[in-house]
Amino acid sequence: MQATENKLTTDPATQPAMTGSMDWLKHPDRFVRRHIGPAPSDVEQMLAVLGYRSLDELVDAAVPANIRLAKLLKLPAGRSEFGVLNELRAIAAQNQVFRSHIGLGYHDCITPPVIQRNILENPGWYTQYTPYQAEISQGRLEMLLNFQTMVCDLTGLEIANASLLDEATAAAEAMMMCHRLQHEESRDVFFVSQHCHPQVIEVVQTRAKALNLGIVVGNHLSFNFDGRLFGALVQYPDTTGAIHDYQAFAEDAHRAGALVIVAADLLSLTLFKPPGEFGADVAVGSAQRFGVPLGYGGPHAAYFATREAFKRQMPGRLVGVSKDSSGRPALRLALGTREQHIRREKATSNICTAQALLANMAAAYAIYHGPEGLKNIARRIHRLTAVLAAGLERLGYKVGQASRLSSSARGDTDGQAGRLPYFDTLVVDLDARNSSDLVKIAETHRINLRVIDAKTVGVALDETATVEDLRALLQIFNIGPVDFSLEELVEQPGPVIPSSLARTTPFLTHAVFNRYHSETEMLRYLKRLESRDLSLTTSMIPLGSCTMKLNATCEMVPVSWPEFSGIHPFAPPAQTQGYRILFGQLEEWLAEITGFSAISLQPNAGSQGEYAGLLVIRKYHQSRGALHRNVCLIPTSAHGTNPASAVMAGLEVVAVACDKEGNIDVADLRAKARAHKDRLASLMVTYPSTHGVFEGSIEKICAVIHEFGGQVYMDGANLNAQVGLCRPADIGSDVCHLNLHKTFCIPHGGGGPGMGPIGVAGHLVNFLPGHPVVEVRASARGADNLKVELQPIGAVASAPWGSASILAISWVYIAAMGAAGLTESTKIAILNANYIAKRLEEYFPTLYQGHGGLVAHECILDLRDFKSVTAEDVAKRLMDYGFHAPTLSWPVAGTMMVEPTESESKAELDRFCDAMIAIYGEISAIETGRIDQQNNPLKNAPHTAEMIAADNWTRPYSREQAAFPAPWLKEHKFWPAVGRIDNVYGDRNPVCTCAGMEAIQPER
Ligand SMILES: Cc1ncc(COP(=O)(O)O)c(C=O)c1O
Repeated sequence: MQATENKLTTDPATQPAMTGSMDWLKHPDRFVRRHIGPAPSDVEQMLAVLGYRSLDELVDAAVPANIRLAKLLKLPAGRSEFGVLNELRAIAAQNQVFRSHIGLGYHDCITPPVIQRNILENPGWYTQYTPYQAEISQGRLEMLLNFQTMVCDLTGLEIANASLLDEATAAAEAMMMCHRLQHEESRDVFFVSQHCHPQVIEVVQTRAKALNLGIVVGNHLSFNFDGRLFGALVQYPDTTGAIHDYQAFAEDAHRAGALVIVAADLLSLTLFKPPGEFGADVAVGSAQRFGVPLGYGGPHAAYFATREAFKRQMPGRLVGVSKDSSGRPALRLALGTREQHIRREKATSNICTAQALLANMAAAYAIYHGPEGLKNIARRIHRLTAVLAAGLERLGYKVGQASRLSSSARGDTDGQAGRLPYFDTLVVDLDARNSSDLVKIAETHRINLRVIDAKTVGVALDETATVEDLRALLQIFNIGPVDFSLEELVEQPGPVIPSSLARTTPFLTHAVFNRYHSETEMLRYLKRLESRDLSLTTSMIPLGSCTMKLNATCEMVPVSWPEFSGIHPFAPPAQTQGYRILFGQLEEWLAEITGFSAISLQPNAGSQGEYAGLLVIRKYHQSRGALHRNVCLIPTSAHGTNPASAVMAGLEVVAVACDKEGNIDVADLRAKARAHKDRLASLMVTYPSTHGVFEGSIEKICAVIHEFGGQVYMDGANLNAQVGLCRPADIGSDVCHLNLHKTFCIPHGGGGPGMGPIGVAGHLVNFLPGHPVVEVRASARGADNLKVELQPIGAVASAPWGSASILAISWVYIAAMGAAGLTESTKIAILNANYIAKRLEEYFPTLYQGHGGLVAHECILDLRDFKSVTAEDVAKRLMDYGFHAPTLSWPVAGTMMVEPTESESKAELDRFCDAMIAIYGEISAIETGRIDQQNNPLKNAPHTAEMIAADNWTRPYSREQAAFPAPWLKEHKFWPAVGRIDNVYGDRNPVCTCAGMEAIQPER
């Protein structure tokens, strides 16, 4: 180990960068000082409590020596925030932001500044966690309920979830739901319209292939259903912009016993008939154009709506209305207190992290504009498109989609040359011209068009389109100025939506969508919701396995730069050189951190990384003629997404036992691996384990799997305990996903966004995900060793690099921390966890300990011995002390898993421990009969301001004891918005749109 690594780099005076004479001329500020919570003097005190002389001594005792990395990572040296942002600016400047008319499911839009500043760029919103602790999450739960209501209204369906990851994966989830809903095994074929967006088609195909489902891609106008079909997917408007009347198609499908999924553009549904009214069973799509920047592919919220009858099969999180202890309406995640849908192998989906922040933005956009505002935005786009169509026709072009479709088209035309109705997208037949020539001309005007084929281009308009854009487009198509004016075109009659396709039903009639149209009202609404939610801006969120560390402002700032946020995901490579540099460097750094040969940045959540990684493993076996290898061993302690992903990847799950220390039972593992040796595909293992310890036998575990022909998938959710100390590839894993929204500082956004890239060893590089629209090829280290041709598993997400814009966050983090800073960070994460375990050991013993009696970066506190209070009571009581509870009852029921992260200072750790110790005192009073077993501060927690201020206080403890049990609360009190929520009531009386809220919530 290098000497510099032993020093506390949190002290700038000991920074390696400061030792040379020239280094003294650099600004003394180092980001590592901002990211790491404890000051060097605190570290010394904490080590003294733990009985270690140095941080390295502690880390040497906690992390098994056989897996330690014997060198410093090869990464750039740490820098100041200012320096890193300047460097990134230079990279961003190599992106060119062209006006995009590409369409294909992504449209530029205007993010209302009040939403940009107060949600997207506001840590009060973006540092929230998924709303499992509902009493302190009422703000985002209300906004997500608004999102669900908006989606139900616009799609005409009965129930919608609180977001999915992107349009294509939402379509794949819908296909799987339709398959689950079928009871006949012989139904194993799914129809996909050839006029769906190409990325949607490919993601669905990738998913189907893993499950041995057949996909027929064809023309919905000529398709004949048979008894093998379980479902069908169509796009509305289709990828060429045409709006079809799918009513007859849906009837045919239903007659044949198949379900119908419509991938629909939400904005178009303000003018056109909603899918629920023409027979759709499911509607999916993207809410991106509701105020969310393009971001070169994301993050954006996808939506998923269906019939009430299917709600128990629905993927994703669902917000529902229930009541609190005072009988008042209160919101929480419905159909289960945690993930209603991730039931291990029986899961309806593996989706955990979704896109809450972006769903909140989309709902806020709909609230700000209201139904009339949205309709006006849509009408204007539609009218501009009609003017453009008229202009192009005047120039002699054939415009529209009719020429491209069968003349037996079912459905209305708009009466003009038999053209099918459109909303915002036109297809232009260039006749004598070449698409590529025209596209080049357009690029000289900094405009992007979509190439459909050699003689056809597509043009999509959006909210940002102007009359000047139309002029520029006409000039491009005419290759010179046109001899007519736009005014002449505007005088012609506007587009008429055929009555069979026009929307006639009202939408967004609820008060919330009609109340906040002035900026003052909107600002106050957003602030009101924010104030009901506990985020990292209030106190530490010690959620084990979630790594709620600092999301530094300098990491977040670049996400809003237009050079990152304003680029269409399918913009030509020449315009995205800055992004390519960012991806290349990030891939290289992540490869160095993990020890792998290559990284794919496509999966946009940990769950998607798991699924993609397992598909890579399957493809590898297939390439060796061993497709029959389909058994996946998973320890019983695994996160629910692991078995759910394995099933999605077509694998059979076999559980492996854990011993009483929480470690994988190696004898059982060996026995299971041997028993399935001919069919063993992989093991999924989390390291350090979900029990919070560095298992000493991890190398042996990997060796056993390899011995029996399997591959090792490492769940990298706990990578925060590994960075700089050990590496997944060195330990023996073949694939690993990294939750960039844990270890690499992407904020959790109240339940998303996230990113789950995968790293793979050299023999798996050829199988990494591809993309049908943009060529993606991970830069592989040691690529010379690759002997076979690329055989990508197909696309696993809509966009080639997932939620590309937030990759800048992780880039800034790694660049600013540098190798020494990252290693230091890991060591402090381990120190902080052990400090908490030590301070609380007398009160709440740590369930599992590893090497040296120490934990890794988190500790499981055992509360199972208490007779009259539960871990849930403690979680709710922590709210009264101003804290978010640790992870509750996972991975062991009746426990709390605490992960403080390196970003929390000693003062904050002490405050948390003081709160826990004070609660222990309250528990003792209950257990010894000094306080009533039911009517006590824990059972009645959390206490709201309303309860404390009530004229009638009859509880056997004081108001002060209820609401101000610790001294710091006098300085700053976070008030839970509602009392304890009744989950059972909510599930018995499900209400998942704001209709119920409006009825029960009095006007403020
Ligand atoms: C151990 C573990 N694995 C996988 C996941 C899934 O990651 P994501 O939520 O990004 O899908 C989580 C999420 O909490 C986790 O804790």
